[in-house]
Amino acid sequence: MKPEDTVCYCFHVTQRKIVNFIRVHRPRRASQISECGGAGTGCGWCIRYLTRLFEASQAAGTGAADDLSADDYARGRAAYIRAGKGKPAPGAIPLPPEEETA
Ligand code: FES
Repeated sequence: MKPEDTVCYCFHVTQRKIVNFIRVHRPRRASQISECGGAGTGCGWCIRYLTRLFEASQAAGTGAADDLSADDYARGRAAYIRAGKGKPAPGAIPLPPEEETA
């Protein structure tokens, strides 16, 4: 994932915005990242990734840097939603067509 990639599809929050939020506001718990544009408070798909960013910031003083592609992340989110594990917030980025997630 790159800084400009969307992490929270429900509230259109990029990785850059989250990393900057963590750097500036220094949340004490990962759940406080929800104060960054509501990230993580919709379908729940991005919570695991938000937690990863939080833990990376605690360990190294930075956020980001991983080998997950934005496409794989988007496919994982589509599968998560289609499996009924979460409901996207109103106004969320739509799922890709089903054949693209196979
Ligand atoms: S993608 Fe973040 S709450 Fe749905």
